[in-house]
Amino acid sequence: MLFQRILITGANGLLGQHLVHKLGQVPGNDVLATGLQDSPRYAGGSCGYTPLDITNPEQLRAVFEDFTPDVVINAAAMTAVDACESDRDACWKINVDAVETLARLSRTHGTRLVQLSTDFVFDGEAGPYTENDRPHPISYYGKSKLAAENHVRKSGLTNWAIVRTVLVYGMAENLSRSNIVLWLLDKFSRDETVHMVTDHIRTPTYVVDLADAMERMVRFRRSGVYNLSGGELMSVYDLALETARVFGYRAELVQPTDSRTFSQTAPRPPRSGFIILKAQSELGWQPRTLSQGLAHLGVTLGLPTFA
Ligand SMILES: NC(=O)c1ccc[n+]([C@@H]2O[C@H](COP(=O)([O-])OP(=O)(O)OC[C@H]3O[C@@H](n4cnc5c(N)ncnc54)[C@H](OP(=O)(O)O)[C@@H]3O)[C@@H](O)[C@H]2O)c1
Repeated sequence: MLFQRILITGANGLLGQHLVHKLGQVPGNDVLATGLQDSPRYAGGSCGYTPLDITNPEQLRAVFEDFTPDVVINAAAMTAVDACESDRDACWKINVDAVETLARLSRTHGTRLVQLSTDFVFDGEAGPYTENDRPHPISYYGKSKLAAENHVRKSGLTNWAIVRTVLVYGMAENLSRSNIVLWLLDKFSRDETVHMVTDHIRTPTYVVDLADAMERMVRFRRSGVYNLSGGELMSVYDLALETARVFGYRAELVQPTDSRTFSQTAPRPPRSGFIILKAQSELGWQPRTLSQGLAHLGVTLGLPTFA
């Protein structure tokens, strides 16, 4: 059995909670969950938890010295794209400076670093993207995530991985931010109409599948860049329509629009999405289709579905 001590940052977030759950179930894994809060936002769980603000180098150093992780997964980030555009200092501190510190500590302690990144490192002119396509971010969030990637690559670490993902949906406990599917279900349950863009193309990712792929990456000790997302390319409008269908709401609640009608603080890549052949072939991983992911989510939420 492979014994690994795994440190997870941002453990109270959507992905973080699923990573704690997934990696904590594997015999031989000793998982330490960390987050900004004094205690975990999720109930139960057999893993240890300690508060950790990744922008605090002293706290980071203490955790590395006390826990001596074999692997660090950095799922902590400032993820609100418009907030990153308007509060650039905070964004850079969390998304870039903290990653530089994490990479330096990982190198000193011989720790593998797995850094989460995003389709927003691309401009969205030519998606879906492979791992080898050239990034060109158009938002401050995207720039910060690319700068973090570059710190990891140039840190001198011999064993690092960058996991890029896309439009993640799913359920976790007491989240500070909602996600697209939970937001849609809330609107539909109130019989409210939503206007969804037809010109933003993505490969939506079910968080349970993402955590599964990341557990494989840790187990197989993969390094380098990996695209981990759903396998179906679709517009945000089509995603909303399918959500309505699977959860039994009227299709008329979803109205098409395009991005020119929205004024958002940060620009979004129009056509992103990923080609995931590398992950499928190297990890033996197959994400659910959107309808399968929604049906699985329905079970978690205790809602009837029509997948
Ligand atoms: N969600 C998506 O659609 C998506 C798409 C592409 C890439 N990603 C990437 O995937 C990763 C995980 O995202 P997610 O969806 O799980 O986002 P999330 O739910 O917003 O989780 C991020 C977590 O980081 C925490 N955090 C923020 N600042 C911190 C700090 N200084 N120290 C420690 N923790 C801090 C947040 O705490 P609070 O809860 O207190 O705010 C939150 O719990 C991120 O790197 C993100 O960029 C996400």
